[in-house]
Amino acid sequence: MSGASADGGGGDGAGGTPRPLRALLVEWVFAKQVPAGVGFLRALGTALFVVLLTQAVTGMLLALCYVPSPDHAYNSVRFIDHEVKSTLGGHEIAVGRLVRGLHHWGAGAVIVLAFLHLLRTFFTGAYKRPRALLWVLGVALFGVLLGFGFTGYLLPWDMKAFWATDVGMTIVATVPEVGPALADLLRGGPELGAPTLTRMFALHVLILPALLIPLAGLHLLLVHRLGITPPGARVGAPEVKGAPFFPDHVVRELLVAAAALGVVGFLAWKLGAPLEAPASRELGEYEPRPEWYFLGLFQLLKLEWFQGDRVWYATALLPGAVGALLLLLPWLDRGKERSASQRPIATTLGVLAVAGVVGMTAWGFWETKDDPKRPPPPYVPVGDLAYVPPSSPPFAPPTDATAGGGTPAVPADPASARAEALLAESGCVDCHTLRGEGDSSGAGGPELRGLADGHDAAWYAAFLLNPKQFKPDIDMPSAADLELADADRFAIAEWLAANARK
Ligand code: HEC
Repeated sequence: MSGASADGGGGDGAGGTPRPLRALLVEWVFAKQVPAGVGFLRALGTALFVVLLTQAVTGMLLALCYVPSPDHAYNSVRFIDHEVKSTLGGHEIAVGRLVRGLHHWGAGAVIVLAFLHLLRTFFTGAYKRPRALLWVLGVALFGVLLGFGFTGYLLPWDMKAFWATDVGMTIVATVPEVGPALADLLRGGPELGAPTLTRMFALHVLILPALLIPLAGLHLLLVHRLGITPPGARVGAPEVKGAPFFPDHVVRELLVAAAALGVVGFLAWKLGAPLEAPASRELGEYEPRPEWYFLGLFQLLKLEWFQGDRVWYATALLPGAVGALLLLLPWLDRGKERSASQRPIATTLGVLAVAGVVGMTAWGFWETKDDPKRPPPPYVPVGDLAYVPPSSPPFAPPTDATAGGGTPAVPADPASARAEALLAESGCVDCHTLRGEGDSSGAGGPELRGLADGHDAAWYAAFLLNPKQFKPDIDMPSAADLELADADRFAIAEWLAANARK
């Protein structure tokens, strides 16, 4: 018995037309039943849902003023904090500051509530049959929420945003095999810069919501279908739902949601959202650290044992194992007992895991707290004024030259890189050296970089067409012999002239 009576109010008594809205309300609210004895702990999910809805609304409002570009992101955030105001009944209200504060503290509340909701579900054994899929969806949703936190963090483009994301990307890059490529993909290049901001913004406002909405929708639908697990009920025992959902449990849910929103609203009103100096690659005294819910992981990395070759134990193996264990939990633990006291092993492991996470996070807080108080961020003019955002190198796939360790870096500009690639492809380096490498045939042609008595590009183009015309005895093939296309010959000639000694 699911507690929902589908047709309880579907038709209108005296054979009138059905009222779909009324039917829906009856099914989802008025006729619904919950097990007797459910308390406030079973209202955490609803509170999380309500805070997430507020995040959506405040996020949409912020997007009205925010500019996702390194030149303007910081200024647009400062504009939201200081200029977006409204007067209500003679009082001036810093609406922008309040909305950004709500979004900032709301993000923290989302992680806390999701964590508590997960703990409640774990310790009450509510992940067991028939709610395995519900649990798996929940774990996936937790991952999506962490993604929201990580991607949102960069958007204010202040020092904290920039360096916390840099720390995060470094952690991503330590994952064996896929890590470096994944970090490059997220950053949009080998270094954090303008493309990273674009990607984090796109993930935060388009891609993650597109994942969140269907996952959360399915999660809610299953909650409605299966109802709340009766406290302590064994798997397979009939789930008796004898207490009305409305108003008792609805009131509990609204109270918990109101309490969460109250705390978020209070912090937003009192503290606003933090904003440090605008992002810069000049670190100075600044100590990079991640956002608070990655502090535990960050603290783990500081342990001697996890350094060097073992860093990926902490960055990939441990989080991966925890994620996999959580996802597979309903199949790993097939016991029929739900109550925590009847499941000593699961309960002990759970308590140890929570103690580990909370302990590491608290330790991380403690360490960062010990730092000398940093001075307030200086007011730096941003935008069309003096501020120069951190440079972002163009993204080029790594070439053979960069892949081989120790060889000098390939020039940053694409034309040069292309010309150097042509020197290799056309066989020039069979007889010549390039940066000291090549000349496999031992023909002894000169080093192509820094040629003596430098000529102009037109001269080199003509020389390459027919070297014998210039040096009758030369043992160097013509462009036709080398099957060198004109465009490539000109590109090489330009490069030779640009790199020749004057
Ligand atoms: C079969 C061997 C061979 C190949 C292939 C070859 N070269 Fe040469 N190149 C030579 C030799 C030998 C010289 C003359 C060295 C000397 O005179 O001391 C030379 C000379 C040159 C010079 C010097 C001209 C000057 O007077 O400053 C340039 C420039 C040059 N090569 C460019 C190229 C480029 C570009 C390619 C590829 C498209 C190429 N070479 C392919 C053998 C080769």
